[in-house]
Amino acid sequence: MSVTIKTPEEIEKMRIAGRLGSEVLDYITPFVKPGVTTGELDKLCHDYMVDVQGCIPAPLNYAPPGYKPYPKSICTSINHQVCHGVPGEKALKKGDIVNLDITVIKNGYHGDTSRMFIVGGEAAGSILARRLCQITFECLWLGIAQVKPGAHLGDIGHAIQKHAEGHGFSVVREFCGHGIGAKFHEDPQVLHYGKPGTGLELKPGMIFTIEPMINAGKAAISELPDGWTIVTRDRSLSAQWEHMILVTETGVDILTLSEGAPRRPELVAHLFP
Ligand code: MF3
Ligand code: CO
Ligand code: CO
Repeated sequence: MSVTIKTPEEIEKMRIAGRLGSEVLDYITPFVKPGVTTGELDKLCHDYMVDVQGCIPAPLNYAPPGYKPYPKSICTSINHQVCHGVPGEKALKKGDIVNLDITVIKNGYHGDTSRMFIVGGEAAGSILARRLCQITFECLWLGIAQVKPGAHLGDIGHAIQKHAEGHGFSVVREFCGHGIGAKFHEDPQVLHYGKPGTGLELKPGMIFTIEPMINAGKAAISELPDGWTIVTRDRSLSAQWEHMILVTETGVDILTLSEGAPRRPELVAHLFP
């Protein structure tokens, strides 16, 4: 496993890519309404990334070993879909929950971030759907709050697992956060479960994502025949939020923020200086 320490020049480029990724989510937010298809959201995001931002949508034709090329520019994962949902003809319905996952490439560097949306507004969601989205958001932020030089990856995983399971939810094991830079997926793997004090020690200049996938039911997943879409085996709801972070000399910088990014939850306020 080789984990790179980014140079100040690389960090500057990652800041730009990260902000652009988050701005795609800001842009698409008003379009996430009942009746819109995920294919339409994909097209809108694609055109915004390419024509407005001058970015490359990283998912398009992305083909890690063992996968066929990903056919679209964003991932749209609805309800029991965990991640890598492929946009298509399906229209969103009032009360659906959907994750939109955006990865841009700008000047050779990646910006990767995702958010949950409750279609038709917060009040349209079931109590369970709203709780799952909120707890998963808190899991992300509790993970981020662990990040500082000398901390370990296991501290992040543990904080996420404890919060999710403490609320009766489960953590998906097969997919994790990842180092990121000139490559989409780099070392290290950032597990969303684990034991404090274990795993890689964090050092200033590391950049990776934290992107917990939390299920309302059991943790088990399966892959659909399209070769990409991951669903919960028990068809229970699943949520995910993602930020890309930098380990600084004193703590953590979140690289995927923008005007429209949801503010950090009250629950973690005391963990940030
Ligand atoms: N954006 C996803 C992640 O957070 C990866 C999507 S790969 C794709 O790691 F090909 F499905 F787009
Ligand atoms: Co990611
Ligand atoms: Co992502």
